[in-house]
Amino acid sequence: MKNEAKKRGGFTSSLGFILAATGSAVGLGNLWKFPYIAGEGGGAIFVLIYLFFVLVLGVPIMLGEMAIGRKTKLNPIGAYHKLNKKFTFIGVIGVVCAFIILSYYSVIGGWVLKYITTYVTNTHVTDASAYFKNFIQSPVEPVIWHIVFMALTCIIVIGGVAKGIERASKIMLPLLFIFIIIIAIRSVTLPGAMEGVKYFVIPNFSHIDSISEISKVLLAAMGQVFFSLSLGMGAIITYGSYLNKEVNLQKSAFIIPTLDTLVAVLAGFAILPAVFAFGFKPTAGPGLLFETLPKVFESMPFGVIFGVLFFVLVFFAAITSSVSLLEVVTSYCIDNLKMKRATASIIIASIMTIIGIFAALSFGPLADVKFFGNTIFDLMSFVSDKLLMPLGGFFMCIFVGYIWGIDNASEEISNDGSIRFRWKKLFSIIMKYIAPAIILVIFITSFLPTK
Ligand code: PFF
Repeated sequence: MKNEAKKRGGFTSSLGFILAATGSAVGLGNLWKFPYIAGEGGGAIFVLIYLFFVLVLGVPIMLGEMAIGRKTKLNPIGAYHKLNKKFTFIGVIGVVCAFIILSYYSVIGGWVLKYITTYVTNTHVTDASAYFKNFIQSPVEPVIWHIVFMALTCIIVIGGVAKGIERASKIMLPLLFIFIIIIAIRSVTLPGAMEGVKYFVIPNFSHIDSISEISKVLLAAMGQVFFSLSLGMGAIITYGSYLNKEVNLQKSAFIIPTLDTLVAVLAGFAILPAVFAFGFKPTAGPGLLFETLPKVFESMPFGVIFGVLFFVLVFFAAITSSVSLLEVVTSYCIDNLKMKRATASIIIASIMTIIGIFAALSFGPLADVKFFGNTIFDLMSFVSDKLLMPLGGFFMCIFVGYIWGIDNASEEISNDGSIRFRWKKLFSIIMKYIAPAIILVIFITSFLPTK
């Protein structure tokens, strides 16, 4: 077993793991998605619900996933299979989900690359919105950038776990933090920004006045927690599988969500006040970051340099997340299909690239292809964040609560009793009752006809 674990590679330190797992969590979900989903979800109300779900769903589910990963030292499918064959399907949900997410995640990663080049070449842009629309509607450019982003992800995954991931996260994450704080300060001090600050921090119930509106916001907030923390689909199980016994899982399961949430909230402060200051709409959707921030940079001294550096950092945040997504599927192919790391990564990334091309084109040539009123991109995002991840999370709670058992999980969480698991009772109640109930109720109110 020891040899097997060694062969798998592993994190060389506890800090390495926290940084890499934070690298998986902090990504486009925080910087690009959180601000626009909060904008669409009515601002402060969404943020409050989000924070609540981070505490009651995010932290315990992360702890559970880490424990499963470290206990089994396997990819998600292998892990569930090893603990109880009947529950292998939870791992399958995760791997399918990783496929869908990375396919469209890489499209947005490509947008980021495009913006890096825009700033590096100091392209003169008079109308940021028109520039953005022109770009995403093109049939060629977004596809090329998507392919480049996926190729870069693949190269890092081929490089192996400890080497590839740890090295990058250590420098980039702290830098990203500093940058967002500076941008947030600029954004909230823009003339007219106060409306945006209010929108983001003072709940205004006039935005949600019907049951269907409430359930929409609840579903969006829950989906965003799973997406942002990389939960419900095995990424944290996979990272946990590379962990050694010394790491304190309880601490990690608090630190990672805290950092992740901090980045998301700061991104909200960087973007939403500027949205109001420049007269955009907070409900503008996926383009919010790309249309708003260039305006902020324009209003700053050395704005162009700042723009380059910022988008480079966003790129790093995105790639540490995409690496973890590719790693989920790759580790399955290595463990179970006995494939070589390089072969596995290349084949999977190629398939994801092809699926992602449809997502990339769904802002332009394929914009009219709709399923239940959703574009291909929206549908992929809906199926992963709002359906499969919460579903994976639901089953994982049931699994830990009733099948593997709280005592077994606690043994792993407490490092076989050497670290006290003070929250065991609370963890048990959440896993067995609260988390499954929340997920189920939100599903029922959102997906069943209300009449
Ligand atoms: N948490 C990442 C983000 O916020 O950008 C996205 C993600 C990464 C989701 C890894 C799921 C995952 F397994």
